Amino acid sequence: MTDSLVKVENLKKYFPVKLGVFEGWHFENGKLKRKRLYVKAIDGVSFEIEKGDTFALVGESGCGKTTTGRTIVGLYKQTDGKIYFRNKPIDEVLKKSPKDFKKNVQMIFQDPYSSLNPRMKVYNLISEPLRVHKLVSSRAEEREKVEEIMVNVGLEPEYKSRYPHQFSGGQRQRIAIARALATEPEFIVADEPISALDVSIRAQILNLMEDLQEKYGLTYLFIAHDLSVVRHISNKTAVMYLGRIVEMGNTDEIFTHPLHPYTKTLFDSIPSVEKVKQPLKVTIEGEVPSPINPPPGCPFHPRCPHAMERCKKERPEPKEVSPGHFVSCFLY
Ligand SMILES: Nc1ncnc2c1ncn2[C@@H]1O[C@H](COP(=O)(O)OP(=O)(O)OP(=O)(O)O)[C@@H](O)[C@H]1O
Ligand SMILES: [Mg+2]
Repeated sequence: MTDSLVKVENLKKYFPVKLGVFEGWHFENGKLKRKRLYVKAIDGVSFEIEKGDTFALVGESGCGKTTTGRTIVGLYKQTDGKIYFRNKPIDEVLKKSPKDFKKNVQMIFQDPYSSLNPRMKVYNLISEPLRVHKLVSSRAEEREKVEEIMVNVGLEPEYKSRYPHQFSGGQRQRIAIARALATEPEFIVADEPISALDVSIRAQILNLMEDLQEKYGLTYLFIAHDLSVVRHISNKTAVMYLGRIVEMGNTDEIFTHPLHPYTKTLFDSIPSVEKVKQPLKVTIEGEVPSPINPPPGCPFHPRCPHAMERCKKERPEPKEVSPGHFVSCFLY
């Protein structure tokens, strides 16, 4: 086994679709039965994140990025597949020492407005995880620790008695980061942590995340729409499409030698440096197929300019085309 911090093997997460009262009924062998439909939000995803990595997950809206993040931190139970944290299956870790896992693995959400309890003062938002995980033994130590964390994320400790609504979006995201940091985690899933923020303060939050990574040896799973951000912050990149990873490798390699037709179109749709700063707007022919009824074969074949007969029937497995660069496509 490698010494990856997080390892995901053939992960699947299906959500049952709620049907209307009259929907989904049919006769089978003379009996009335109801069909079950599932949204295949993640449909067989595998990757490894090594300690100190910033592993970026990119792809169009609805391709399963958030679901992947939430499943890895244990907010969703996977339908199938394995997730390992420090080489131990998280199902086991969550059963045996859930507190330990929750201390070590944190999540930062896109929207710092809804992810922070508006009725809690900053002090309590940050001290709560300290108390829950018994990381401080006295009131004085607690106060000291809260202030230290506030300074580390660039917040003035004198604002500790304020409520989240008294801060700007960027400051609020700093509070969310402070709260995640309080338990001294090893691994943080950041789900589009800057997308909801004003463009002018995005870089500050990114820089903060990078500084904290260096200072505390953090490992990130960074979910993003914005390709320029990915290139800037991550050392590994995985491109997702319809619940699957179509290409994965070192960020530099993926950006300079994209191979999968989907990755290529994704990057082609950002022709200039200026445009790189804009969110992912893909101009690919055709609609993203429904994850309820994904096409057989390669999920991208209905939109792919190079689609062959084979792509309609067989699913391409990831192939290592150069060291660490995997692509799931029959062209390679
Ligand atoms: N709790 C849920 N119940 C049912 N379906 C869900 C649930 N969460 C996500 N889905 C569906 O799973 C698919 C993947 O959603 P997900 O939120 O993971 O995508 P995403 O890549 O994060 O998209 P975005 O970029 O818009 O945030 C979508 O079709 C979505 O509608
Ligand atoms: Mg999402």
